[in-house]
Amino acid sequence: MRLKIVVLPGDGIGPEVTEQAVRVLREVANIHGHNFLFEEHAVGGAAIKRSGTPLPQVTLDASLTADAVLLGAIGAPEFDHLPANQRPEAGLLLLRRALGGFANLRPVNSYPALAAASPLRSEIVEGADILFVRELLGGLYFGEPRGIISQNGDSSAFNTMRYSVSEIERVARVAFDAAMKRRRRVTSVDKANVLETSQLWRQTVARVAGEYPQVDLDHLYVDAAAMLLVTDPTRFDVILTENLFGDILSDEGAVITGSLGMLASATTGGAVDLYEPVHGSAPDIAGRGIANPLGAIASAAMLLRHTAEMEDEAEEIEAAIRAVLDAGYRTLDISRGTGGHVVSTAEMGQLVTEAVAEVADMRHAYHAV
Ligand code: NAD
Ligand code: IPM
Ligand code: MN
Repeated sequence: MRLKIVVLPGDGIGPEVTEQAVRVLREVANIHGHNFLFEEHAVGGAAIKRSGTPLPQVTLDASLTADAVLLGAIGAPEFDHLPANQRPEAGLLLLRRALGGFANLRPVNSYPALAAASPLRSEIVEGADILFVRELLGGLYFGEPRGIISQNGDSSAFNTMRYSVSEIERVARVAFDAAMKRRRRVTSVDKANVLETSQLWRQTVARVAGEYPQVDLDHLYVDAAAMLLVTDPTRFDVILTENLFGDILSDEGAVITGSLGMLASATTGGAVDLYEPVHGSAPDIAGRGIANPLGAIASAAMLLRHTAEMEDEAEEIEAAIRAVLDAGYRTLDISRGTGGHVVSTAEMGQLVTEAVAEVADMRHAYHAV
């Protein structure tokens, strides 16, 4: 199978982790005889430096004609003083809107080998298996009007939180469909005790739930959800929530796995699917070769599953990640308390690449019997 994958490494550790994800994808292509075409373009701060804009037209055009886009991370402190619409982050938001994916899937698992890497007690995190379905094109991120105004010697800033019924329905269906393939439970997270957008959210989700009689729906306020996520993570299956709450809760959820560097994401529902680790450009560790590439590599697995329907290949990558962790290899961020062997970003990428080949060999031998 032929697949055109546009790779947008971005800033900070973005290029370091995407290089490893591409390496693993190349190995999968070799093993299975696929033809993966990689085309690299600039985005974020790297693009601002090169061409003065965070989403150059060539990057956008290439992304729109790709089968999938694999992004590293964007953002750097040197651009933090710029207005919102000129920052690297604006490039990512424009790209998300142009590609059109409104459902951002962020799985959070407790890997048995990493239970001790979490600051939460092992008995709390063990068995946790959550899928965040984060609405990605609405809410405060895109609501109009927005801006900063000065009047009578004072300045004020404002953003608009807005959701329509159709925006809520379409992402809710993604969550319920996902739950049907999992443990059939959706927890919808909102702030319906205060916000009108959340009241509409809750009513709409409840109505969509009527189409899925086999799925259990419950609602939580976001403050309580934030607390339960770290005190009782195994109570959750699918968490459905709006854009900003999903952004915040998924980083909190990373604590269950042990590190933000572990989390992957897939954005679906638009013209072109977008895959990116959940973490940012991590300026505090960029350039040192110590970043965890597993979130990016797991995003590549999601790409194969969701865009290419290569379930076997996706599972091989995920099995390879587990095998490398079970063998005791750790990047620095997941080394706490697990007594493993600390390796660099590139070594971790190499280990997963080798493990993919071994997993594929074993599967092949198994099927040949
Ligand atoms: P961050 O996610 O970059 O980092 C938060 C913390 O997690 C840091 O201590 C970092 O070292 C650590 N971390 C993150 N990824 C890691 C990995 N793969 N391996 C090991 N440790 C890792 O968040 P931040 O510091 O708040 O933001 C930095 C920049 O990234 C900002 O400009 C922000 O806007 C941007 N950002 C971009 C994305 C994206 O591109 N999708 C996501 C989040 C933040
Ligand atoms: C994420 C990031 C982005 C977001 C930023 C960089 C715009 O934090 O993907 O989680 O808030 O969506
Ligand atoms: Mn985030």
